[in-house]
Amino acid sequence: MTAISERCADMQASPIRKLVPLANAAKTRGTSVYHLNIGQPDIPTPEGYWKALKESLPEVLAYGPSQGLLVLREAISTYYSRAGIDIDTDEIIITTGGSEAVYFAFMTTCDVGDEVICFEPFYTNYNGFATMAGINLVPVTTVAENGFHLPSKSEIESKITEKTKAILICTPNNPTGTVLSPEELSTLSDIVQKNDLFLLSDEVYRDFVFDGGSHLSTLELPDIEDRVIVMDSISKRFSSCGARLGNMISRNKTIMEAALKLGQARLCPPTVAQYGAAWIYHHLSEDYYENIRTTYQNRRDLLINELSDVEGIFFLKPEGAFYATIKLPVKDADAFASWMLTDFQLNGETTMVAPAAGFYATPGLGLDLIRIAFVLSDDKMRKALNILKNGIKTYLETVQ
Ligand SMILES: Cc1ncc(COP(=O)(O)O)c(C=O)c1O
Repeated sequence: MTAISERCADMQASPIRKLVPLANAAKTRGTSVYHLNIGQPDIPTPEGYWKALKESLPEVLAYGPSQGLLVLREAISTYYSRAGIDIDTDEIIITTGGSEAVYFAFMTTCDVGDEVICFEPFYTNYNGFATMAGINLVPVTTVAENGFHLPSKSEIESKITEKTKAILICTPNNPTGTVLSPEELSTLSDIVQKNDLFLLSDEVYRDFVFDGGSHLSTLELPDIEDRVIVMDSISKRFSSCGARLGNMISRNKTIMEAALKLGQARLCPPTVAQYGAAWIYHHLSEDYYENIRTTYQNRRDLLINELSDVEGIFFLKPEGAFYATIKLPVKDADAFASWMLTDFQLNGETTMVAPAAGFYATPGLGLDLIRIAFVLSDDKMRKALNILKNGIKTYLETVQ
């Protein structure tokens, strides 16, 4: 039998999902599992979404336009204008999740063998999309001691080669919760101008900045309008991960023409979901955004309260998004996370976390780190973290 492609054979399994078979086996044994492994919010999708879907049910569920329905692109443009950012509907293409926006950003800026500089730890699925696009992610390591903020300009520039086409950032960050400062964004702006690069900016958590901070979008940076591509999504903003809707934004017309060709190849993004998304964008007030931000900030604080007294654990206060990258006193967080599902339970329950090595491109980094998503209600978070604490104690006493 002929071999499958090297591309897929070499592709890493997502650390967020690869332990799912173990979680399923635990559930079959009768153990309930708290999912802190995945950024799947438990906040109900705004009710009007379902009503809007029903009202727009067509007789024929037809293809829509490749760039997405105008009504949704107008709604997104209005959302950005409320934040003081002027975006024309032609500068937006609706994608199948923010995921496809990442893929389109890679595909429109890079050829096979080109390099994109990124900051590790990074959203693990960038690896998969880089493999699909045939590009190389070149990591610059960020460290907890520095709040996972960017290293010096010279360290970043030292990674630039003649193959480098872009720098990829994510702010607020998954998996660290770090929010890049205006100074850091200004440094990146200098670098991309000086070295003639694109700046790919994943801003899917832009509504979740804590402690009174605000989000500066790369769309607001002067002088690099033509270089910026923003990747955005409604998955987390509107607790609508299953709608599979995101968008890519760029003021660079050539990039948008190229993205449209990619869009035409896959025909169109999900049609029905777009009506619901447009309704939400048009109808939600500032209170909605304020409420979800406060909810996640409170959960962040709960996480800090529950875990700060645990010996051997180290983590920083996330500045935004809804993730924390946590150092454990274990040698192999992958083995620990698996063991939590195969061998541990407390009163018939266990907790699933994501081992963080897969969020690094440099082999050997992140082996003692896990990522936790604080996406469950306070009560469930408390129980899940208590199980985690007990699991760590038992693991250290009996396994490691
Ligand atoms: C940083 C980041 N970008 C992109 C995505 C993709 O999200 P979706 O495809 O659901 O919009 C995610 C999902 O967790 C994410 O965390």
